Amino acid sequence: MCGIVAYVGDKPCRQHIFDGLLRLEYRGYDSAGFVCVDNKSKRFCCHKEAGMVDIVKKMSETVTCDGSIGMGHTRWATHGIVNQVNAHPHFNCSRTIAVVHNGIIEGFEKIRASLIKEGHEFCSSTDSEVAAHLFSTLLEKNKSISSAVIALTQKLDGAYALIYMLESHPDKLIVIRRKSPMVIGVGNNEMFVASDFLAFSDKTNQIIFVPDDSFAIVTKDNVAIYDFQGNLLNVKIDTINATYATVDKQNFEHFMIKEIYEQKHAIMRTINFFNTIGSMVSTDNLNESNKKNPLITHAENNLSLWRQLGVTADQISTLKTINLVAAGTSWHAARIAQFFFEMIAKIPTHVYLASEFRYMPLFVNKDSLFIMLSQSGETADTLEALRLVNSLDMQTIAITNVPSSSIVREASGFLPMQAGPEISVAATKTFTSQVASLYWLANRMAYERGMINLDQLKIAQDDLFIAAEILETTLETNKLRITQELAPYYAKFDKFIFLSRHINYPFALEAALKLKEVSYIFAQCYPAGELKHGPIALVDEHTPVVIFSVLDELIYNKLVSNAHEVKTRRGHVIAFAFEGQTELIDAADVAFIIPRVNPLLAPIAMSGIMQFFVYQMARELDRPPDKPRNLAKSVTVE
Ligand code: G6P
Repeated sequence: MCGIVAYVGDKPCRQHIFDGLLRLEYRGYDSAGFVCVDNKSKRFCCHKEAGMVDIVKKMSETVTCDGSIGMGHTRWATHGIVNQVNAHPHFNCSRTIAVVHNGIIEGFEKIRASLIKEGHEFCSSTDSEVAAHLFSTLLEKNKSISSAVIALTQKLDGAYALIYMLESHPDKLIVIRRKSPMVIGVGNNEMFVASDFLAFSDKTNQIIFVPDDSFAIVTKDNVAIYDFQGNLLNVKIDTINATYATVDKQNFEHFMIKEIYEQKHAIMRTINFFNTIGSMVSTDNLNESNKKNPLITHAENNLSLWRQLGVTADQISTLKTINLVAAGTSWHAARIAQFFFEMIAKIPTHVYLASEFRYMPLFVNKDSLFIMLSQSGETADTLEALRLVNSLDMQTIAITNVPSSSIVREASGFLPMQAGPEISVAATKTFTSQVASLYWLANRMAYERGMINLDQLKIAQDDLFIAAEILETTLETNKLRITQELAPYYAKFDKFIFLSRHINYPFALEAALKLKEVSYIFAQCYPAGELKHGPIALVDEHTPVVIFSVLDELIYNKLVSNAHEVKTRRGHVIAFAFEGQTELIDAADVAFIIPRVNPLLAPIAMSGIMQFFVYQMARELDRPPDKPRNLAKSVTVE
């Protein structure tokens, strides 16, 4: 994926493009580039370099050319290493056509080979450069820009959001969208185009979401959108009121640590907001005392909640299965939530990795509900999975932290989390807010299905708030020890094993992922019962084994045995245990002791210390925790 921002209008574009690029940094930070048709020379003026924030800031000080049409690009490398040459924009041989691209052009190697045969000279190793050279040949062969675009879309496979600028038509942006997102902002004698409207949210709230498989010819006072057959489309302008808030680190060293500390409030805000959803839809039929008690209001007003989710109360009562589809950290939250839906609401639940989902057999079942879980709401794998489910006319709910996202727009209903903007690439507060959201939803469903009563529903919510509180207090009590003693010691190891069972096994997966993401230390995670089936061969004094305990006595005892199996092989155990679990605490070399919580909420209670521990390891190793190498916050390629 990558971020694209473009402008055509009666004002200079340069500063807007640079500001927009900084706002789209979450889509990739490998390189940045800018091109405009220079007002003075009437020729393309282009600057691009590897790197991101510093480069964009440097460019905004040093680049002097400016024009009333221009575009910028922030890259997350897929084809071609991270360097200046592979940065966008790319050009045709005569440098009269510039293109920026988000997505992956599949099978570009063949097109590239035949263009080279025709005499085209390529500068980069990207798939994107093919789009520049190919379009130049098609413009020569076709009478109009539109027919060249249609011919182009017939030749290009894969996912692409493309913007072309032609030196010969310095009044037009040619915007093409297949699968990758693209939005147009309508201004007064000016138009904005970007991968995400946040890039220009301070300029206009009048938005056109470019439909999939369509292209737009954008001038400063007109937008004409066509499908890939060349038919003019009538696309409505939406009014969007979200704005881009500049989020700063306040007094924290990194966003990651700030966001770790924000978790308690993120969870509480999200749950309190969910409790108001019913009344947002309708409170007319409630008596005054109920209106004052959000919990009662919404337990009794569940109907409104189901309406918001695009389902009926009957559907919830007769639901036969729930399917959770997600990627990365969201997938770990989904795997934790499987226990909630099965144990509390008694609904058989399947969890799918979005990137695998589309290639598996899918059985149409009208008593089945799909929940697409995505912090960003833009992950291409999850979005494509959603489209597949929608095409089979099955019920879909989106749970995201970004209400304006593509996944929200395309699902039948949605629950918007209120975690607030998460800037650090490694998910922290959105992970625990997802777990809390799904716990809340499972309880609401259980109530609707008559599995729990109102008192139990209230206890469930209290338990959530207790777990959120423990997340924060345990972090506070262990902070110094981790910073001064444990992180400096453990950052010296180059591999770790993570173990747990039951609901904390997916949490252990998340812990291992977090360590890999931010510290680049190799981590392998297993269900503890599998240790004896192979991974135990890896255990020695050089490989710390992190064990996350659970609050089920039977499973806990098995974990204690696993800890002893490690110790007897000269292994080194770091235990995350609950108060009173002396057997595990005594067996461990290092133990974090966490107050007891509702057993299903152990992952929330343990999150604070786990995240703080890996964050401190990253600091010890001088890694950039907010922007780890090779990663991006929003992954819009498959
Ligand atoms: C990227 C991010 C991860 C995230 C995953 C899924 O890989 O770096 O932190 O978990 O995408 O993102 P989503 O927005 O769908 O939750």
